[in-house]
This record gives sequence, structure tokens and C-alpha cells, in this order.
Amino acid sequence: MSDLILGIETSCDDTSVALVDRSGHAAAIKTVSQFEIHEAFGGVYPELASRAHLEAILPTIQEVMTAASVTPDDLTAIGVTRGPGLIGSLLVGLSTAEALSMGWGVPAYGVNHLRGHIRSVELESGKTEFPAVIMLVSGGHTLIAELKDPWSYRLLGSTRDDSVGESYDKVARMLGLGMPGGPAIDRAAQAGTPVLRLPRPMKNDAYEFSFSGLKSSVARHIEKHPDVSIEDMSASFVAACMDVLTAKADRALTECKPRSLVIVGGVAASRQLREAMGEVAGRHGVELCLPPMKWATDNAAMIAMATWDYVERGVQPELIPKPNLSLETP
Ligand code: KG4
Ligand code: ZN
Repeated sequence: MSDLILGIETSCDDTSVALVDRSGHAAAIKTVSQFEIHEAFGGVYPELASRAHLEAILPTIQEVMTAASVTPDDLTAIGVTRGPGLIGSLLVGLSTAEALSMGWGVPAYGVNHLRGHIRSVELESGKTEFPAVIMLVSGGHTLIAELKDPWSYRLLGSTRDDSVGESYDKVARMLGLGMPGGPAIDRAAQAGTPVLRLPRPMKNDAYEFSFSGLKSSVARHIEKHPDVSIEDMSASFVAACMDVLTAKADRALTECKPRSLVIVGGVAASRQLREAMGEVAGRHGVELCLPPMKWATDNAAMIAMATWDYVERGVQPELIPKPNLSLETP
């Protein structure tokens, strides 16, 4: 096998390594989750995350290369997340990539994690029709942007406070559903009815988002009614999130008139979100592009996929961690 990119993702709490070809086929991938390490803290503990990356990174690379019978000669490039993310976690992936690059004589590219999510829809031969409107809904980010081609991003708006994924996780904790909260809320919501009245913060404010008020309303409701149905509360919370997210997507499709709507990030694993966005895209007659379900959350296949853009563009950012890297910067 040849012409592969070795992708490395260590921006937060997953050590992920993948080999991906130009068509988006993953020859091998392995993701080591740190879920059990952080569960007791109710969130990611940065120092423990870097230590766990350090332990996992080399064996994971070796395992993936062996599984696909790949040698360094088969690699076009190494692509590694340079930001945004936790500085200690990013450093592990970046310094590993730099050492391998020097040792193997294979060029290494520092990749924007957000662009990785956006290119995740190309995995397994998906195609993005340009121009596109993209919505990134993850644990770290909630933003909407216009994408004229794989390289020209124009941010339309982002969240002022919590991200959607973060509010899913916090509401899950309030309801005793544990970590990771997104999938648990998603499941509970499907068994409930959205009967509780919750606010739709900034629904009509162009492209800005805000989710902390919604989360506080849920907290107040639970305090007043401790015996509230977990399913109905989840369904009501999800309905409020869907209302806000679809309103923004609807506005962007009306104003930007793209050919496709791209929904990515961990929350894109939500069935409700997939269905709701399908309806919006259908109404506007545009294509809905979603990542394969298993690659909505953080993984190295999406980082490898995005690396092909950098290789073809001849843009090779330095292997230096950028914890606050924005969407517009490669
Ligand atoms: O993209 P991601 O893996 O990490 C970041 O880059 O932030 O997103 C993680 C987020 C978490 O907040 C998680 O609760 C949420 O994605 N999530 C979901 C689902 N699966 C993961 N949210 C809703 N429904 C899901 N099925
Ligand atoms: Zn992510």
C-alpha cells in the first residue's frame, strides 16, 4: 500500500492514529479513550491527559502501521493536530510527529482540528459540494461558517459561552446520566416527550449562539421539580437545542445559497440533529453532508483527511501547539 497519510490526534482526551488514502478510505485506525481516567473528575484533567497520551502514542502508531502492513516508505505525509486543544496533549502528538518526520524523512504537517472535523464528511468516499455552509457542533466549539472551497473559510458566528456538546454533558450530569453526556441525553430524549417549556437563547440573533442560559433553566427546573422525568427533561432540552441550531442553519442557507449543508463535530452523532438538519436541507434543496457516525467524534482519520488539503495546497504550518487556533487559520 502506498500514498497514505498517517494522522495523529491528541488534542484532548483521545489518543487516535489512522492511515487514510486520498479517497478517504482508512486502511487502519485506532483510538485509545481516556474515559476511565477522567470519569471521576467529571471532566478532562489536563495533566493526566498528557501523561496518558505519552504512554499510548508510540504503541498505537506501531499497532496501526503493523495492522495495515505499512512502512514509512508508504507515507506521503504525517498530519498531526496543532490546535485548538489542551497544550500538554497537543505537545505529545506534535513532538512525536516531529521525531518520526526527522527519523523517517517524511514531511509532517500541523493541522487545524476544526478543519479535521469539517473534512470528516469526506471519509469513506463522501463528497462536499461547494460552496457549503458548515456547522461545527462539538464539546469544545459551536460555530457556523461559509466555505467557498476546501480552503476559504468565512466565520459567520460562534457561541458566546458554552458549546452545545458542553451543555449536553452538563445537563447529563445534572440528571445523573454520567459521562459522556451527549449519547446518554440523545438516548433518553428519544424515549421522552418535549413537554417542558425551556428558552431558545439567541434563536433570532443572526449567527451568534448561547447555551449557558438554557443549561441554567434546566438546573432551576430540576431544583424545583426533583422528580421530573429524565426522559421528558432530556427531550425538552434537545428540542430547545434543535430549534436554535436549525434556525441558524436555515438562515445561513437562505443568505449564502450554498450547494451543501455540512454538519460535523461530536454532536453530529445525535440522531435528532441528523434528522432535523435533513429536514432543513431538504426544504432548501441542498445536499446534507454528515460524517460517518463513528467518525463524528474526535479521531485521527479526519485529521489525516484534512492533511490532504494541506499537502495539495503546499501549506505546511509549524509543529507548534496553538491551543486557541481559529477556524480561519490553517
Ligand atoms: O467532537 P468531539 O468528540 O470533541 C471536541 O472536539 O469537542 O465532541 C464531543 C462532544 C461531547 O460533548 C459529547 O457529549 C458530544 O460530542 N456527543 C454527542 C453525541 N455523541 C457525542 N452529543 C449528542 N448526541 C450524541 N450522540
Ligand atoms: Zn473535536
